[in-house]
Amino acid sequence: MPRLVLVSTTTEAPAATDADTVAVGIADGGSPPESVPPEVAALLSSGEAKTAFKSLALAHAQGKRWLLVGLGKQEALSAERMRVAAATALGRAREVSTRALCWSLPPAAPSGPLGAPALSAALVEGTILANYRFDRFKSKKDDDDASRLERLIVADPTAAAAGTGAMTSAVATALIAAEAANGARDLQNRPANDLTPSALAQQAREVADGIDTLSAEAEGREGIERRRMGAFAAVAEGTDQEPALITLRYKPSAGAVPAAPVLGFVGKAITFDSGGISLKPGAKMWEMKFDMSGGAAVLQAIVAIARLQLPIEVVGVIGATENLPSGHAVKPGDIVTASNGTTIEVNNTDAEGRLVLADCLNYARSLGAQRLVDLATLTGAVIISLGSTYAGLMANDEDLAERITRAGERSGEIVWRLPLHDEYEELVKGRFADLDNAPEERKAGTIVAGTFLSNFVGDVPWAHLDIAGSAWDLGRAYAPKGAAGYGVRLLVELARSYCEPT
Ligand code: BES
Ligand code: MN
Ligand code: ZN
Repeated sequence: MPRLVLVSTTTEAPAATDADTVAVGIADGGSPPESVPPEVAALLSSGEAKTAFKSLALAHAQGKRWLLVGLGKQEALSAERMRVAAATALGRAREVSTRALCWSLPPAAPSGPLGAPALSAALVEGTILANYRFDRFKSKKDDDDASRLERLIVADPTAAAAGTGAMTSAVATALIAAEAANGARDLQNRPANDLTPSALAQQAREVADGIDTLSAEAEGREGIERRRMGAFAAVAEGTDQEPALITLRYKPSAGAVPAAPVLGFVGKAITFDSGGISLKPGAKMWEMKFDMSGGAAVLQAIVAIARLQLPIEVVGVIGATENLPSGHAVKPGDIVTASNGTTIEVNNTDAEGRLVLADCLNYARSLGAQRLVDLATLTGAVIISLGSTYAGLMANDEDLAERITRAGERSGEIVWRLPLHDEYEELVKGRFADLDNAPEERKAGTIVAGTFLSNFVGDVPWAHLDIAGSAWDLGRAYAPKGAAGYGVRLLVELARSYCEPT
């Protein structure tokens, strides 16, 4: 169960709150705010506390713990650095069993993107994400109740922003989005014997049951075959687990803003990718339980959008199945027909994600999506080219690509655009069928996969995010190892970009 942290804002001085620990960020050359007791401020002049980014010093005064957190250069302070600083501070705060943490909001530029609301949002995100643990399968939990963070208070003693609508809503949005990202991480981390395609479908139904503007439906093997989704069905042939075509619909109760398009989010959810008959090598194969990360992000992003009641319609399509070898599995060389009539040679059963997405993209389009965004742990090649720093972005539409890039900059889930080009279209052409799912030459692996997908979106503005490098083991202070929940906050920001004048 995700442990929930209560988050609030206050115009009180940190010392006046009932927090047991106060975190105070100090940039290079800066001095502690007046609310910091002199014996704590003295740590800075004595050199025990430093302003270098991520440095920490702890002192006791006025019946509280005081945590001085180095923020580094004031000019370099970004939302992302604030998330990292908050995550670093939380690490120390947890070690000393902090239950109520008050962050004294550092001085913000009066205008610009890093105003008080954006800074507060970043420290809420950094704290909530860093507080995440996956211990449901541990008989003895790592932290006992005493060291559990219960409350986070953002104090803006200058009262410049606290209590204002902008600040309250930034904090509330950040909390909902970060909780959703943690929800996605729970789904990602669950092993494949626990999170089967049916269990994921069940999860979607359960969350939708709790939100009246959100509905979820799921169909199994029979429904997938009836819809003539021959590409998706082929991947599911090898497993005895029932596959799931999961559909989510969010309709805002007060109606969408007139200019907002219907968004279609599509997620790859291979709950285990063994490669199928084109079996993967054994080393680290266990990591392929994370091959459903795109689906997890889509589900939780829609949950967050619904909880935020954003005035925009969203449909979600998640293609869930295992990819396993067996006597009834799809074989290299088999030719299958996708729901849009395109025929595909399955030359490598390990290039299964694009097969599932082909039918899911076409389906999302048929459900009325006016913008398509798919998220998938699609290629090993994107890890080689971009590592864990950027997700790979491919798009057939400039405005959508631009919005996703901006959304990623705001959320810290940054993306790097890779090109689409006529020459790549030649590469995905099949020898015996229309398309080849795994061209032999292995040129431009990530782009070739994206190009393959472009055959299933028609004229709809579409963007593809290859998150194979960023979905887990992100190596950031707020998501170092294991599932990262990557993409949830980006999709929320993207939806917001259509709802608010920017
Ligand atoms: N799920 C994998 C991609 C992947 C690999 C994600 C490693 C994260 C870490 C995908 O289904 C796959 O196997 N892709 C193949 C495609 C190839 C056979 C054309 C790949 O990238 O090797
Ligand atoms: Mn694969
Ligand atoms: Zn895969």
